Amino acid sequence: MKITIIGAGYVGITTGTCLAQLGHDVCCLDLDRKRIDMLSRGQVPIYEPGLEDALHEALDGGKICFTTDTEEAVGGAHAVFIAVGTPSGPSGGIDLSQVFSAGRNIAPHLMAGAVVVMKSTVVAGTARSMREIIARERGAFDIRVASNPEFLREGSAMQDFLEPDRIVLGADDPYSLRVLRKIYAPFVSANAPIVETRTVDAELIKYAANAFLALKIGFINEVSDLCEKSGGNVADVARGIGLDHRIGSAFLQPGPGYGGSCFPKDTRAFAATGREYGARQHMIETLISRNEDRKKQLARRIVKEGGLHAGQKVAVLGLAFKANTDDVRESASLAIIPMLQEMGLEVSAHDPKANETAAQFLDGVEFHSDLYDCCHDADAVVILTEWDDYKQLDLRKLAEEMSGDWLFDFRNLHQPEAASEAGLRHVSLGRVATSPADRKRVAPVGSWERRVAAPEHI
Ligand code: UGA
Repeated sequence: MKITIIGAGYVGITTGTCLAQLGHDVCCLDLDRKRIDMLSRGQVPIYEPGLEDALHEALDGGKICFTTDTEEAVGGAHAVFIAVGTPSGPSGGIDLSQVFSAGRNIAPHLMAGAVVVMKSTVVAGTARSMREIIARERGAFDIRVASNPEFLREGSAMQDFLEPDRIVLGADDPYSLRVLRKIYAPFVSANAPIVETRTVDAELIKYAANAFLALKIGFINEVSDLCEKSGGNVADVARGIGLDHRIGSAFLQPGPGYGGSCFPKDTRAFAATGREYGARQHMIETLISRNEDRKKQLARRIVKEGGLHAGQKVAVLGLAFKANTDDVRESASLAIIPMLQEMGLEVSAHDPKANETAAQFLDGVEFHSDLYDCCHDADAVVILTEWDDYKQLDLRKLAEEMSGDWLFDFRNLHQPEAASEAGLRHVSLGRVATSPADRKRVAPVGSWERRVAAPEHI
């Protein structure tokens, strides 16, 4: 099939490349000439494992092209995917202006029978509004708009596309559904889980899925706080609850609060939609503010627990919102670093991929390409992203490099015992520190332990 993708951003490039891998003829349209030229040469403007190789293959096989010309891209296409940005609006709802403007631009060029497919994350009812906009623009009524939300995670987007947990096909008419099935034919014949539903349900599935995953993270972060206070270990608690299939073990890793281009924006939009329809999403509203507070609390914790004062140096390891991406959008680092600076601390930072992207948002930070250089003379080191480089940190070398001895490990990458042996004071999330000196820092558990101690005959 001939498929056009409107928007050569993260979702557009990945979707286009993967659809080309499925055998379709894909054309990606974007207004940004520089980006289109780069992509035509096989250069991917984002870091996504496996994407560049797949793109080269598609380009070499003549299965994908890039253009800034709407007529060239859209004319003759059987399906036109909309994959433009849907940023947060001022009240937390999403700004759909790019989506609707794309609809108006493509309207005159759509082939009769073409199906417009909403790939961008959009609120309930957007596909229907899009149909009206395009119909008005063309003065015709035979317009078909479907919804096919993406469930790609940055850093593993190719795998998520090619080995999906499920594919959601939202259509309000039988023809659109047939076109969607044909696009995903290899998955249909492999009996992959496919949810066929109406466009409004497809739109709601996308938001509800992200909101639920974000809730899991918010929940385990609070459980983690309780573990610290009560002497528990969050890893054991997460494993113990996650083995219940009704709960599942994914997304139960405590951290410095979720970030990225999706969860923060999508939870805000979900809450805004709830308010708009008079069906408040109270849990999500609370989650949003708790997640923001968490980043601030952790910044205060570094200063308070580390006994740091103005002029001292903190080295931050990890700027991306998670590992395997150079994306820093709504990353914990962008909230925590400016707070540390406000408190008078000097900040150096390292990230294997995101130094450049983070530098656009952070002033007065010394960026390093070598992580040990970054930690040289630091009074405290803070790990914010779970990169493999940080898992493999040589703790003794780190301790030698630093002038202080505080390691704030907010991704729980290291065992407290190993950090303690290296001479570091280790602060992680949701577990009790091990050295006798460190133990004093967590809430006393003596009386509680005595109360639940096993009877002697057992
Ligand atoms: C998320 C969803 O996971 C995808 O399914 C969805 O398609 C995508 O949003 C989207 O809407 O486009 P992504 O934002 O790439 O994907 O990243 P995640 O892997 O979900 O991580 C989001 C945030 O949660 C990160 O800051 C991560 O560090 C944090 N997280 C994740 C935790 O703190 N703990 C966990 O256990 C898991």
